[in-house]
Amino acid sequence: MKIQPHISYQDNTMHVENVSIASIAKDIATPFYCYSYAAIEENYLAYKHAFSQQNTLICYAVKANANQAILTLLANLGAGADVVSEGEIRRALQAGVPANKIVFSGVAKTRDEIAYALDHNILQFNVESEPELQLISELATAKNTIAHISIRVNPNVCANTHEKITTGKSENKFGIPIAKARDVYQYAASLPGVKVQGVDVHIGSQLTELTPFEQAFSKVAAFVTLLRSDGHDISVIDIGGGLGINYSENETPPNKEDYAQLVQALLGHLGCNIIVEPGRSIVGNSGILVSSVVYVKKGEERQFLIIDAGMNDLIRPSMYDAYHQIKPVDITTNETSRYDVVGPVCETGDTFSKNRELPTAKADDLIAILSCGAYGSVMSSTYNTRLNAPEIMVNDSQYAVIKSRPSYEEVIDQDIVPNWL
Ligand code: LLP
Repeated sequence: MKIQPHISYQDNTMHVENVSIASIAKDIATPFYCYSYAAIEENYLAYKHAFSQQNTLICYAVKANANQAILTLLANLGAGADVVSEGEIRRALQAGVPANKIVFSGVAKTRDEIAYALDHNILQFNVESEPELQLISELATAKNTIAHISIRVNPNVCANTHEKITTGKSENKFGIPIAKARDVYQYAASLPGVKVQGVDVHIGSQLTELTPFEQAFSKVAAFVTLLRSDGHDISVIDIGGGLGINYSENETPPNKEDYAQLVQALLGHLGCNIIVEPGRSIVGNSGILVSSVVYVKKGEERQFLIIDAGMNDLIRPSMYDAYHQIKPVDITTNETSRYDVVGPVCETGDTFSKNRELPTAKADDLIAILSCGAYGSVMSSTYNTRLNAPEIMVNDSQYAVIKSRPSYEEVIDQDIVPNWL
């Protein structure tokens, strides 16, 4: 029985590809993340296929899941990288993403980060503000080089997603208002250290319909025509990321083919190279968070399934009220109960779901939280001095630990007690 692509029940027990989760849990203590190699590969190739009619570079948004094994898998397939920090540039380069496939986004690129990116001759800076533009030009000039840039425009469209991950409204900190951007392009053209090559837009994440993309890309198309009439040589359009995934069983976000067709229809006539920056839609549904039931606690009004994964491992439900499916690893019972599924952290917000009907569970049962491949491990912390969950990658019938669990000593010994204490 299929749960997500490459995640299924075989003989009533959950498998990622052909490895049983229960068998991994015999070797690796819960909680742990587990990803399917095939699912990531398939999602990347689906983008590649969908955009095959257009000259497109798929720059995986490293922030979604920055594990070196995942970056290496994608680099081997030919992916570029969308990065937002020096750390992510370093990760991408170390995984084998060539510098000429790296685009650097982010609102607060520091002097050191810009210098690092210039030294490595990356493909493009996505510029977010005039002072950033000025600084990039200054640093490039000092290094006797030219930075290739796109300016991120803010099209003021509503992405119909959670407000904390909406980025293309005028009240958001991102980009330069499209109405003002024409002047900024003129200014950029006057600077010695930068070469304008494109336009960049990213309106938000977990978009479950195409209409906001349509609104944004239509504005970008008109803007590119305007810029060309002003004499700018625009050869690149970076359309950002944001395509959503199905977190619940009945969600049907647009598929990659329809998304690519929309891009072709709205931007194809401009003859630009397209850059796309997908994160979640490549890794999101490839991963699960496996956890054990610690206690079943009967409250006065509710029953709590207390598990050994917490908000420090997966913050999405607490932070965005995000819905994630929760499934037992073994389906041994037809009986169901209603539970609040909660973690061990000392905050009421440490709740994965409320009043959810689930197969009746008992202590030590394994459960899986689905769709945790994106913005799961990367957003985790050691809050409550809980150790970061390890990460596992499955490929067919083999698996490997791709991030180990640190020891308590490693975590505690990061702190330094001054000798005057
Ligand atoms: N490009 C830029 C400039 C971005 O800011 C982002 C995501 C992406 C690409 C990739 O977007 P995706 O394809 O993954 O939707 N932590 C939140 C999501 C934050 C997204 C931030 N930017 C969550 O857990 O829902």
